[in-house]
Amino acid sequence: MDFLTKKIPDNELKLMYKDYDSLGFGMIYTDYMFTMKWTKEKGWEKGELKKYEPMSFDPASVVIQYSQEVFEGMKAYYSEDGRVLLFRPFDNAKRMYKSAERLCMTPVPEDVFVEAVKELVKIDKRWLPKEKGTSLYIRPTLMGTGVALGVHPSPEYNFCIFITAVGAYFSSGFNTVSLYVEDKLVRAVVGGVGDAKTGGNYAASLLAGLKAEKEGFSQVLWLDAKENKYIEEAGSMNIFFVYGNKLVTPKLTGSILPGITRDSVIKLAAHLGYEVEERNISIDEVVKGIKDKEITEMFGTGTAAVIAPVGGLCYKGETVYAGDNKVGKITEELYNKLVNIQYGEDEDIFGWVETVDTI
Ligand code: COI
Repeated sequence: MDFLTKKIPDNELKLMYKDYDSLGFGMIYTDYMFTMKWTKEKGWEKGELKKYEPMSFDPASVVIQYSQEVFEGMKAYYSEDGRVLLFRPFDNAKRMYKSAERLCMTPVPEDVFVEAVKELVKIDKRWLPKEKGTSLYIRPTLMGTGVALGVHPSPEYNFCIFITAVGAYFSSGFNTVSLYVEDKLVRAVVGGVGDAKTGGNYAASLLAGLKAEKEGFSQVLWLDAKENKYIEEAGSMNIFFVYGNKLVTPKLTGSILPGITRDSVIKLAAHLGYEVEERNISIDEVVKGIKDKEITEMFGTGTAAVIAPVGGLCYKGETVYAGDNKVGKITEELYNKLVNIQYGEDEDIFGWVETVDTI
């Protein structure tokens, strides 16, 4: 697709690989980025692959003043046979399109989104760590960079993509984390922007997140804003509860992020013969289910978190643990199946994986 101003010649691509032993999340950024601009006059201009650098915007721009911003999180994986793989890239493109529409932004055409991601990954594949569990985390971001101090949509947009080489999101790796159930602050309301992937949702979550961490928990678990009763999602992931051979996850009510990993787990679990229910699930039901040992496992899902085993929940000062706070069998099975597909080791039965390049 001819939407780039120029290609970077291979001999300019310096090998920047360093030490990937303790990657963490968002610690190591690659040296290239992608940018593309939209204006009322010109529409989308040609995109550019260029050296990673700070971007400058007018202090009165809509993104800075009124948070008109949406983003995506997706990953590129190294497969043992030397391929560079993307997982469900068109689903990220579609979700960003929807998020942009909700925030009155000019959306990035889905094919351009995916092509831009691929071009950047091809340049940045030098940074792709090869160990299982590591990947390139890709952050496509759309911002209203024009000035409109009266509250109106921006007259200009910038779409940028940058990449960071990552390992596990939680420093504990694939071990249980515990969550703090927030019963006062809320993340999102039905009719609001909770189902859009916009930075403001995460800014609004910081206070509760810090409170959870101060109490010794990894993340917050949100309840619905109306009744403070139904479970919505965790700080950076959707949530699942395992009742024996049945998985239950909050249904998408409009205030919950429609996670692509969430959707993948629902499809994968059903394929493996598990019953999956998407429904309202109250915190009282969950606490009772854990105490009665009906809930045997819990886990979170997200691009960054992948599948994160959850051991404990703290609600109103009491912490309850499912499955003796150990990683559950079904959680582990789903994790292995999912990552084996993502890393190109298992058959791609759902058609989720796209080869971008080889190394
Ligand atoms: C992701 O999982 O990609 C996210 O966007 C979650 C987070 C790190 C904000």
